Amino acid sequence: MINGKKVLYSGMQATGSLTLGNYLGALKNWVTLNEEYECFFGVMDLHSITIRQQPAHFRKCARNLFALYIAAGLDPVKNCIYYQSHVSAHAELGWILNCFTYMGELNRMTQFKDKAAKHSDNINAGLYTYPVLMAADILLYQADYVPVGKDQQQHLEITRDIAERFNSIYGDVFTIPEGYYGKSGANIRSLQNPSKKMSKSDENPNGSIYLMDAADEVVRKCKRAVTDSGNEVLYSEDKPGVSNLLEIYSACTGKSIEEAEKEFEGKGYGEFKLAVAETVNAVLVPMQKEFERLLQDKGYLDGIIKDNDEKARYFANKTLRKVRKKVGFTDILH
Ligand code: TRP
Repeated sequence: MINGKKVLYSGMQATGSLTLGNYLGALKNWVTLNEEYECFFGVMDLHSITIRQQPAHFRKCARNLFALYIAAGLDPVKNCIYYQSHVSAHAELGWILNCFTYMGELNRMTQFKDKAAKHSDNINAGLYTYPVLMAADILLYQADYVPVGKDQQQHLEITRDIAERFNSIYGDVFTIPEGYYGKSGANIRSLQNPSKKMSKSDENPNGSIYLMDAADEVVRKCKRAVTDSGNEVLYSEDKPGVSNLLEIYSACTGKSIEEAEKEFEGKGYGEFKLAVAETVNAVLVPMQKEFERLLQDKGYLDGIIKDNDEKARYFANKTLRKVRKKVGFTDILH
């Protein structure tokens, strides 16, 4: 508990360009959580170097993600938005927790297997212990809730296992986090292959709408989106392409799927796709303007970064001090 509120923790990796799927599925739903929870959202740059990064590009990506959090509506005063690498307690607790995690557990992580297959020239130990660092992120802030997608559920499970193991040895040190499944975000699929989720690492750039895509690019991608046989705009299992577009339309407008279906009754796929593109642009264009404005305002952004770093450090160090004591490290004398 912080200020009488339960704590919620999440974050995104600081690499690649965010997609409409990241926004509608996660970011958009984070915006109002601070009313009920004390929220921390990290720019997960320590995790990013498990894959080789080009330094200048990486630096820019991390700052862009930070600005995008704010442009998407996260209030940087009511939420703690910060860079993971600015709070050294993450790396320190990550090391300690490595010593409380079994290789047998890590061997079961499906994301490690996937990433190792994809980056077979660089299967480093960091990629292997990625979930332990993620456990450190969550446990440092004594988080009660973690909104995560399906692909991260296994990592949340191991976080709970590590925390329970640590607590059973040393007493109640960590809050055991749960997944947050409140108002669940939209599940947006690739425009080119709706059996896959829309992803920032998709090799086919036509499958994803990026948050920084220009308006005419969005129109082009929506027009090219795969649709299904037939010509009715209906949500159904045998119409994955159309259903995905309906999902996007509904999430961008706030209208229900049923309302959207009614609206397009008797209208063809062509007209529908253009309407989808228009509603996507109505969301993206103002966000992009705000993003650009923030990046120009270096003083403001730097001030926010400094304040939030301090806030994050305060809470993280509180937990780290407790952990150090429990483990039996000698005091640091000043
Ligand atoms: N692994 C997460 C992802 O790729 C990002 C992440 C790192 C995270 N640490 C976290 C998410 C802690 C939630 C909580 O999506």
